[in-house]
Amino acid sequence: MEFQVERTTKNGLESVILRSASGEFSAEVLLFGATVVSFTVGGSERLFVSDDAIWNGIKAIRGGIPICFPQFGQPLKEMSQHGFARNSHWTLARTETKDQEATVLLTLQDTEETRVLWPHAFMLRYRVTLSYRSLTTELTAYNPGDTDYKCQMLLHTYHRVQVSDMSVDSFEGCLCYDQLTKGDAEPETQRMGHIDREVDKIYLEKPGAKPIPSPLHISAQEGPMRVYKTASKGKMDMEYKTEVPVDVVFWNPWIDKAKSLADLPDLAYKNFVCVEPGIVQGWITLCPGESLTLSQILEARDKE
Ligand code: BG6
Repeated sequence: MEFQVERTTKNGLESVILRSASGEFSAEVLLFGATVVSFTVGGSERLFVSDDAIWNGIKAIRGGIPICFPQFGQPLKEMSQHGFARNSHWTLARTETKDQEATVLLTLQDTEETRVLWPHAFMLRYRVTLSYRSLTTELTAYNPGDTDYKCQMLLHTYHRVQVSDMSVDSFEGCLCYDQLTKGDAEPETQRMGHIDREVDKIYLEKPGAKPIPSPLHISAQEGPMRVYKTASKGKMDMEYKTEVPVDVVFWNPWIDKAKSLADLPDLAYKNFVCVEPGIVQGWITLCPGESLTLSQILEARDKE
């Protein structure tokens, strides 16, 4: 299957489209935030982007796959929620097509502005690859400086689903921190087949705790999706890497929170669920020369 790459713009923001020559599969990635804003399979869109998303190159896009780095949430108050990667202007480093896939590589490094918010030298590489039925997003943070830094990272994926008609693999028994009640992390007691209220939970991948199902299966009217997640840490170009546990955030704002989000139509909470693989338990320390890679594969399956 032949794949192609095209540079274009979407709502005034520079982007790269990856597609199969037949048009059966496609993906679009903005340079702003390195945000994937589309992934289509058989002509059907599998990511959700808000109709009220703000395309001004300042505010992060509400939808697609925004990148959270160097923090998830706002543990460091001097920096905005989810960090600055999602609303920074990335550099297009390379595009590539092979027989069975197309790839775009984007990079971001520290500037005077980022050093005010976070005083570290860093280099991010984000590789997005479209192939038959699947989209791979791989984020690497490298420490090119001479002092350690601590970071978190997450791929904030908005899946387009009819919430009333979707279910996710059971997280039952997995260690769960509920961001709404802010109690202690405890094993999940709900089957979580579907969503019928606000949900904002972090499932923690920890030794001794029940592993998060892998791949995760999302069933929806739009067709099933499998989500694979992995992470590793090591010296940048050395083959030996140690595996890093990947947590999963599960989020839907439901009625009231959706109303409070200016860039989301009031009823749009019905049209997506966020399943977000990330490294968000505490912080990962990167020594000089070390890198951390988080990778997600979305694999669209045939409707059952
Ligand atoms: C989720 C968080 O990942 O992102 C939620 O768990 C948060 O707490 C949501 O509300 C959206 O964040 P933002 O900054 O994009 O509005």
